[in-house]
Amino acid sequence: MIAADGVVQRPVLKATSGAFPIGRLPRNFIWGVSTSSFQIEGATQEDGRGPSVWDTHAHKGAIANHDTGDVACDHYHRYPEDIALMQQLGANAYRFSVSWPRVLPQGRGTPNERGLAFYDRLIDAILATNIEPWLCLYHWDLPQALDDLGGWTTRDCIEWFSEYATLIADRYGDRVKRFATFNEPSIFTLFGLGFGNGKRAVASSEVLHRSIHYVNLAHGAAVDILRARVAGSSIGVIHNYQPCIPSTAADAEAAKRCDAYWNKAFPDPQYLGRYPEPLDRSIESVLQPGDLARISKPLDWFGLNHYSPVFVSDNRESVAGFGFGERPAEIPVTPNGWPIMPHAFEETLLTVSKRYSLPVYVLENGFGGTDTPDVNGAVDDTDRIAFMQAYIGAMNDAVAKGADVRGYFVWSLLDNFEWDAGYSVRFGLTYIDYATQRRVPKASFAWYRDLIKTARANDAGFKTSGKR
Ligand code: FCB
Repeated sequence: MIAADGVVQRPVLKATSGAFPIGRLPRNFIWGVSTSSFQIEGATQEDGRGPSVWDTHAHKGAIANHDTGDVACDHYHRYPEDIALMQQLGANAYRFSVSWPRVLPQGRGTPNERGLAFYDRLIDAILATNIEPWLCLYHWDLPQALDDLGGWTTRDCIEWFSEYATLIADRYGDRVKRFATFNEPSIFTLFGLGFGNGKRAVASSEVLHRSIHYVNLAHGAAVDILRARVAGSSIGVIHNYQPCIPSTAADAEAAKRCDAYWNKAFPDPQYLGRYPEPLDRSIESVLQPGDLARISKPLDWFGLNHYSPVFVSDNRESVAGFGFGERPAEIPVTPNGWPIMPHAFEETLLTVSKRYSLPVYVLENGFGGTDTPDVNGAVDDTDRIAFMQAYIGAMNDAVAKGADVRGYFVWSLLDNFEWDAGYSVRFGLTYIDYATQRRVPKASFAWYRDLIKTARANDAGFKTSGKR
């Protein structure tokens, strides 16, 4: 990331050699990798897939370097190679999402058999390698046809999402048991409708509040459907949750508002059955009798995505009453400009574990870089290794202090389409040469593989000796 002063900021973390920081993690801890449909699949016009809002957005030239998701990592065709990579890693689990417009091109109505068959092939191939599939229903690629009808701003979205959830449950529920309803609902509502980036923002605060509530209701309806139709299901939802740090003392109230909108607007009603202040008052006008009970359905786990804290400034003009402030200059950042603060990860794990009283799975954590191969074609991403070592160490510390964490999934298996940054930011354990689609496992890939191997050996040792 280039800072405002034009200087490329580099993290100051250094990987230390020696033991992996996993000694306090529970036995049979799940080590996984995560991806999402739009970011890797490509094949956006193949086999009857309909357009999503991200196709539309990208084709307006709104993405860095005018990138689009048209080809992405070509995972639609190369998924066997990608599953082989997961096998080499020794991953226990793979989190992916289904592209709603691939299976329901109009968002509802007639399903697309060829799109459904792709996920059959994918799921069967994952299961054949003994990796557990974790299926997320919605990772932001709303069918354009539904957006045209109002998308998440209309109460009809509850019915549309229910129809989609029913299709997925009935088609894959014989083989998939782990389901997440949404990925980071606060991000796609706040950025899709609230702040946007000046390109997609449409919202008055009234529209934003309505959408928050409807997404919550859609979640509750989908949980009911999955629970009723999938025997042995294990259901959760995936939230970004980050300490909201006021940039200055004058921003303290804004930081509280950020915490309500960014962190709690979805998990509080979903897991605790109530909206946090001050949202509770703003949502009142759209709340119908029984809504909170419809949202708050029993769940099996809390899915956490975490990268860094947010620095908050006061901004009464913005729809949610806060804006984004500067981080203190001494805090290191990743090349894509995200503060590196492992201690905030530890704090977050302790917070969510206590607040929501359920097992926590870290379903995303990773390092956004600008990796390039060296003259030998190798990608020596020591910065990423240092980041992972520090963050996994922080997770280990959180567990030692009582957080109930059961799994960790790296974002991401592959470099991929990083939303508005396009392909300019790389999060993968595997480098993608987009010109040839060649996959090159980075140094971090080998590091993570060795960590998983060590963890499994510890588990085996426990089984024979009875001690950690
Ligand atoms: C998360 C998103 C994921 C990816 C990472 C870097 O907010 O869920 O798709 O873009 O950030």
